[in-house]
Amino acid sequence: MSPPSKRGSSSCQHPAQVGIIWASDHGSILGGNGNMLWRVPADSKFFRASTMGGSVIMGRTTWDSLKGALVGRRNVVMTRSEDWTAPGAHRASSLEQALALAADGLEEELGADPRTGRAASWPRTWVMGGGSVYRQAMEAGVADLLVVSTIDLNVAARPEGAVAPVLVRAPSIDLAQWERDEEDSDVLGTWRPRSGDAGWRVDVWRRRA
Ligand SMILES: NC(=O)c1ccc[n+]([C@@H]2O[C@H](COP(=O)([O-])OP(=O)(O)OC[C@H]3O[C@@H](n4cnc5c(N)ncnc54)[C@H](OP(=O)(O)O)[C@@H]3O)[C@@H](O)[C@H]2O)c1
Repeated sequence: MSPPSKRGSSSCQHPAQVGIIWASDHGSILGGNGNMLWRVPADSKFFRASTMGGSVIMGRTTWDSLKGALVGRRNVVMTRSEDWTAPGAHRASSLEQALALAADGLEEELGADPRTGRAASWPRTWVMGGGSVYRQAMEAGVADLLVVSTIDLNVAARPEGAVAPVLVRAPSIDLAQWERDEEDSDVLGTWRPRSGDAGWRVDVWRRRA
């Protein structure tokens, strides 16, 4: 395991390489009413390929939105309920504990990193939401890399009734702290082909030195 490092204002100890991955629409909406508000299978496939063979840290609400543990990954679920258990999930009662659980003995459990292409150089520990967990991870400064899909939709502009009353937003990216990686990101202004509900694109951000 890499020696723990420390960043930002928090005293959170964490493995050296942590990524945060999310998908949001043009209005920075992540989801609502405990679920995603679009179906873009190609982006789901991209998420799977990016995180495969690693650990995924999520809040209990996001866990509840899944059909079970994400296969091929260590699922770390943050909850304040001490007696919470679920098949295939590791319970964590804080972000710090989640990061430690995510890193400990991962290679022994899941083997060598199976990823290919640009994802092969990305972290094996991922924060995968939802809104409250992203916010805490950004504030604690635990991540080295952000992988952000933009979905070519504006869910707030959907006809009344189609919009969930409680919308969850993505954290903002502070340009003083984060630099867009031109090589790993899609060309500015371009969109990947429509998949399901919409086109989409990927931008990768690295923490400034
Ligand atoms: N678009 C995307 O990329 C994406 C990705 C993931 C999720 N989402 C969406 O995001 C929404 C969920 O986000 P959310 O903010 O409502 O919920 P969330 O962050 O997924 O989960 C919140 C829960 O996590 C637990 N938790 C949070 N911080 C904790 C801490 N410091 N220590 C211990 N436990 C902690 C608490 O669980 P307990 O209540 O059990 O204590 C809390 O209620 C859904 O709509 C989901 O579909 C979108």
